[in-house]
This record gives sequence, structure tokens and C-alpha cells, in this order.
Amino acid sequence: MEENQIPAHIGFIMDGNGRWAKKRGMPRNFGHSKGAEVFKKTVNWCKELGVKCATFYAFSTENWRRPADEIEGIMNLLRRYIKDLRAMTKENTRIIILGDISQLSEDIRLELSDIMERTKENDGFIVGIALNYGGRGEITRAARILADKAARSEIAPEDISENSIEKLLYTAEMPPLDLVIRPSGEQRLSNFLIWQAAYAEFVFMDVLWPDFSKNDLISAISEFSQRSRRFGGI
Ligand code: IPE
Ligand code: IPE
Ligand code: MG
Repeated sequence: MEENQIPAHIGFIMDGNGRWAKKRGMPRNFGHSKGAEVFKKTVNWCKELGVKCATFYAFSTENWRRPADEIEGIMNLLRRYIKDLRAMTKENTRIIILGDISQLSEDIRLELSDIMERTKENDGFIVGIALNYGGRGEITRAARILADKAARSEIAPEDISENSIEKLLYTAEMPPLDLVIRPSGEQRLSNFLIWQAAYAEFVFMDVLWPDFSKNDLISAISEFSQRSRRFGGI
């Protein structure tokens, strides 16, 4: 594949952990734990294949609707995986958290802020983690910031442009989203990067996230490379 056929930015909707565990007669959190291992491997596969940036949907603003014990399990897992994120900081990888982390426990919040701050200058690869993230919330947040500036007369309403909104999204410093991969058989965005996905390609796969393999990634990228992206042109 030629370089321009490799997506610069892939979004992964890490779905199917619960069903994967259920199939094995195990608690749902066992699936989340397996899924987190696959996250780590996928980062490396993306680097090997020449992708520049990968964003992973880890927890949505809607996932708070789940039972408390499942949420607690996911948060504990996050504590474990903060260690892996720390290791990635040494590999010239920048970590960007997408979402409102102010609602997470203080220890997690402090760790994540520190990791983001420390990796700000890294330019080898970008890992995005969407955590307490929702696309509608992200756009609403940008609208509020701009409305506040307008109310203070720092900007005029006509200054609000797609570009000024984009600069306030969590993805502002990432390459444009080229491809969204959703395993698990569901064919929807579930509030993931809805603005950024306006012209992204979608690959839906039947594999459950804990079983997602390097071959699945290669096959999704190869499917992407055969798509004709017109962006409204001909
Ligand atoms: C995705 O797997 C992980 C999170 C949403 C945290 P699910 O937990 O949604 O797995 P299924 O869809 O129930 O199988
Ligand atoms: C999307 O999966 C969120 C994450 C993968 C973190 P969900 O399992 O929450 O999505 P729905 O509920 O099936 O749409
Ligand atoms: Mg799901």
C-alpha cells in the first residue's frame, strides 16, 4: 500500500467486551480487561503500519447508565492502564485525553493530566483516549466557550466559523479523522467523534473487540485504501 492509502488518524470504537465475556461465562469486566490489552497491542500495530494517530473510545458519557460495579471495574482497569500510558510517554508518543475528566476520581484525573502535560511535545505518534466523552457534549462545550467570548465582546457572532469550532474540539491538534473502525457487529457511531467523522470512512467488523487482531486492522486499512473519497467533489 502506498503512503497516502494509510489513514493518518483512525478512531476505534472498542465494542463487544461484554458479549465476549458472556460467551465465556465470565463477568463483563473480564471482557473489559481483555479489551484493554488489545488496546495496547493496537497502538503498536498502528505504529508499525505507519498510522500517525489513533483515538480509542474507552468510556462514553452514556456509559454512566451501566451498573455501578461495572463502572467501578472499568475505572480500576484505567488505574492499571495508566502504567502502560506512562510507558508510552517514553516512546515519543503524545497522549491526548478526549472528554471531561473533571468527573473522574482525583487520582485518575491527576495522573491523566500529568501524562498529557508531559507528552505535549512528543511527535512520533498520537494516542487519543476518549474517556467520559460524547460528541454532542464536545460540540456543546465549544459552542459555550464561543458564546461566552461573544458575550464578553471578545469576538463577534460572525467570527464563529467551522475553523473556530474545530480549534476548540479535543482533536484540534490531531490529523483529520480518516477511518472509524467499529468491531462487535454494531453499525452506529454511539456519539463518537460525530463532528470529525463527517467525511471519515467507516469499517464495521463482526469481530468482538477482545478478539481484534493485527490481521483485522490490516484488512480494515486495506478496505479503506480501496475507497474513493470524493469529499463532495466528483
Ligand atoms: C465496550 O464493550 C466497552 C465499553 C463501552 C466500556 P461493551 O461493554 O459495550 O460490550 P458489549 O457491547 O456489551 O458486548
Ligand atoms: C460505545 O459502545 C462506547 C464505547 C465503546 C466506549 P456502547 O456499547 O456504549 O454503544 P451502544 O450502547 O451499543 O450504542
Ligand atoms: Mg457495547
